[in-house]
Amino acid sequence: MSEETRILGIETSCDETAASVVENGRQIISNVVASQAALHAQYGGVFPEVASRRHIETIYPVVATALAQAHVGMQAIDAIAVTRGPGLAGSLVVGVNMAKGMALASGVPLLGINHLEAHLYSTWLQQDMAEPVFPLLGLVVSGGHTELVLMKEHLTYARLGGTLDDAAGEAFDKIARLLGLGYPGGPAIQVAAEGGDPQAFPFPRAWLDETWDFSFSGLKTAVLRQVRRHQPDLEAGVEVPRPGLPIADLAASFEAAVVDVLVGKTMKAAQEYQAHEILVAGGVSANRLLRQTFIEKSPIAVRFPPLALCTDNAAMIAAVGHQRYLSGQRDALDIDVLPTWPLAE
Ligand code: KG4
Ligand code: ZN
Repeated sequence: MSEETRILGIETSCDETAASVVENGRQIISNVVASQAALHAQYGGVFPEVASRRHIETIYPVVATALAQAHVGMQAIDAIAVTRGPGLAGSLVVGVNMAKGMALASGVPLLGINHLEAHLYSTWLQQDMAEPVFPLLGLVVSGGHTELVLMKEHLTYARLGGTLDDAAGEAFDKIARLLGLGYPGGPAIQVAAEGGDPQAFPFPRAWLDETWDFSFSGLKTAVLRQVRRHQPDLEAGVEVPRPGLPIADLAASFEAAVVDVLVGKTMKAAQEYQAHEILVAGGVSANRLLRQTFIEKSPIAVRFPPLALCTDNAAMIAAVGHQRYLSGQRDALDIDVLPTWPLAE
């Protein structure tokens, strides 16, 4: 079989409606992302019913635009790759139904794709990127997940660990809300931390040494305690600017604590499993301090997605679609969504 493919990717697992055409798993021909972030900012997080309703409104124009910008019709597409999970059930359904309808009408094969796997494959969406050298270690740090996996070859994962409570991105979002910095929290914390002292507050690091798991709840409580110390009258859940708080120092100290643990544990696992390279993907992989620290400390290559592809997009769904199409995957037109689908058992 020829290794050349042209895949249409569709993504609606959370608050981005996205479609993309990718050739050979690497070359992005079109990449359309309609973000709902502004819509959800008023709630301080993603509001599921609002998200699915917006996906319904935007999915047709987004997919049509991705095909139009790629100057292709469905007859030039080898497969439709769509996010099947994990994610919000009501949002996933919109993308999967769209993909099923198109597959039925065009006869083009349908491929259900795991969103976390797609985040890992976003690192290879760069034309100059070398082929992966296995085994490699993958860290997915997104709004919903923190997952550490060992990848022995393409499409093959052994789960080492993950978060026991909040995902890394979720921790960023919650602390940003606590500091009155708005949603999404990751970029807001990164900006607020500029000029702050990362050692101002010695926040706890949960090393959980006997495992490859992560926990950010103790850190979250420690930040809350500091905020309360400065603002004893703080009401839980109230999202207002907080005059008098040392925002830059709090943000920098929080960010440093998250980065320390993510980098420390990933590098330790890489050494233990003799990984040849490390992939770091998902929304939090856009974080500047995280990137810098990995690059400074790691003796082996660390690969990140291009900044624009760290957060949710459909190019990464099409990138996995390429590998899965070549591996022979073809899904039936009655597949269901899998809101809690793990990357590996
Ligand atoms: O991968 P993603 O777009 O969505 C999920 O699959 O969950 O990740 C979104 C998460 C949000 O929690 C957001 O705050 C975080 O990624 N994020 C960041 C940065 N940019 C986005 N976290 C830290 N630093 C950033 N620069
Ligand atoms: Zn994601």
